[in-house]
Amino acid sequence: MKLKFSIFLIFLLFAGISGTLAQTKTLVVKAASPVTPIQPTMWGLFFEDINFAADGGIYAELVKNRSFEFYKPLMGWKKTGEEYVGQFQIINSQNENNPRFLRLESLQGKELGLVNEGFRGMGVKAGENYLFSVFARQSEGISALKVELLDTEGKVIGQTEVKNFSGEWNKYETKFTCSANNSTANLRVTLSGKGVLEIDMVSLFPENTFKNRKNGLRADMVQKLADLKPGFLRFPGGCIVEGHELETRYQWKKTVGNVEDRQMIVNRWNTEFAHRNAPDYFQSYGLGFYEYFLLSEDIGAEPLPILNCGMACQFNSCELVPLDALDPYIQDVLDLIEFANGTTTTKWGKLRAEMGHPEPFNMKMVGVGNEQWGTQYVDRLKIFLKVLNEKHPEIIFVGGSGPSPDGKDFDYLWPEMRQLGVKLVDEHYYRSPDWFLQNAARYDSYDRKGPKVFAGEYAAHDKEEKDAESRNTWKSALAEAAFMTGLERNADVVHLASYAPLFGNVNAWQWRPDLIWFDNEHVVATPNYYVQKIFSTNAGTDVVSALVDGKPLTGQDSLYSSAIIDSKTSELVVKMVNVGKKPASLNLSVEGRKVLAGEIRLQVLTNEDLTAYNHIGKPEIVSPVERKIKISGKKILFELDAYSVTVARIPLKK
Ligand code: AHR
Repeated sequence: MKLKFSIFLIFLLFAGISGTLAQTKTLVVKAASPVTPIQPTMWGLFFEDINFAADGGIYAELVKNRSFEFYKPLMGWKKTGEEYVGQFQIINSQNENNPRFLRLESLQGKELGLVNEGFRGMGVKAGENYLFSVFARQSEGISALKVELLDTEGKVIGQTEVKNFSGEWNKYETKFTCSANNSTANLRVTLSGKGVLEIDMVSLFPENTFKNRKNGLRADMVQKLADLKPGFLRFPGGCIVEGHELETRYQWKKTVGNVEDRQMIVNRWNTEFAHRNAPDYFQSYGLGFYEYFLLSEDIGAEPLPILNCGMACQFNSCELVPLDALDPYIQDVLDLIEFANGTTTTKWGKLRAEMGHPEPFNMKMVGVGNEQWGTQYVDRLKIFLKVLNEKHPEIIFVGGSGPSPDGKDFDYLWPEMRQLGVKLVDEHYYRSPDWFLQNAARYDSYDRKGPKVFAGEYAAHDKEEKDAESRNTWKSALAEAAFMTGLERNADVVHLASYAPLFGNVNAWQWRPDLIWFDNEHVVATPNYYVQKIFSTNAGTDVVSALVDGKPLTGQDSLYSSAIIDSKTSELVVKMVNVGKKPASLNLSVEGRKVLAGEIRLQVLTNEDLTAYNHIGKPEIVSPVERKIKISGKKILFELDAYSVTVARIPLKK
């Protein structure tokens, strides 16, 4: 009886195992035969000043309209004190770059002041130091300028004073400590004493910026970028490069040098969408090209600036520079190369040194044109490239393929780029999650000769709900992960990729989804951010073949996969994405290299609700968890959760 029962058990066990084996696919990885190296630039960042990403976002300045240059000169400011005791006059000095300043006249010696509302308030913290600065000139005796930080209720939570003004314009700086946390603080500056004081560039920064830089960036926001270990930073966009019309295009030369001399202009996203109007959206250029290069360096990313090619946005004015008048635009590229890489004896290299960076930034890539299309783009790019390639064969000039990943314009542009000998072609795709799933094999059949791909702007666009962050669903992130296995598998063709846009201010956005949401106090990583992070922090050095039944996993049984070797750590890194609503098993068979027995670390992103998203109230609804599994041989069984992304780092014998 006992014997019969044991045989029955063995039978059941065998039936069970063979049942599992029959269903479970085996991913065969050829770990000893790298297929192609992965570019160190592979996973990067796209930064555009959209959604208040720069002023009111990463740029740590807390004062809005600090130099009174908005169309309405006192936008963001409220007068305090009674008007009859004094006057507020906006003076236009006719200085081209920073024409306006404010003249405060306190006639009776009573307090007269102004309150700045910040960018939907100011985010301040107890115990932190704040740096106040102002350009000022006194024309009649004034005793002091009182500076106060007010909380939401108007209570003073920090204060200082500036005095001893002279009859010449000077910059005055002072520091104070804030006594309370507040995310909607205001800044009040008040004249005390009788007389006249003119002020400009009224500024307040936290002392604690990323790397404690002056004129610096919000530490919490930059940290999120640094954590991604990005391969490159594309800046300054996006459509902002093009401008609504040529007049409002991005001109890098106006964004370097002394901050107070940078000419502020309207942000093109100010009026772009009628339903998301942002009348107070301008570009102070406090975050300009020097700061972008510095940011790239600080986070270990290759700088990738994109410059205007003599065309304004084709969705807007479509203004064109005549073909025989492109020289100043081409000169802008040449001068930028000098600014970034030139010696300190050159005009632009000298300016870089004066700004604090004598060493070159070692820029290797420059984009010419953003989302352009048609013959008008090709005709212009041709003229640019003739000069640029001849003068700077060491630089990779990036061309574009228009706003869509397919269709008439795309089909026209790719062969043209090939013909022009462009080395990298920028592709953009804002598409549904389904499109991303269906396109996981997009690059498997791309021509291996000629230009490489820069997937410069992409995001899966899911349904929107009320919350700003609601479009960054787990469904969209999962679809991107599936698609990204295809980017990685084709790393011989795809050299760079970046999700877009990067930042969205929950209280002032124009475009969504975005990779990172923020307000004055919080920074929220979306599920899409965590997908990017899983790929970029497990980037590896070489792609290896990973096949099921001789084919890559591109959706069979809802599974997607790619595998790479990290030769620096001697690990095999396998990414597995299950977009199905049921858990799935996947066998891994490692060929050619010995797997070290022991425990392996898994990073898993999963949620059973595809509509889940992270938000300021609950920022970690979808966030990675670590798991460990024991392995003893070269066959490993993975149990993948429903709707999950799993990365396994498997140690190999050296
Ligand atoms: O990322 C938002 C916008 O999308 C970019 O400015 C533009 O290049 C694209 O159309």
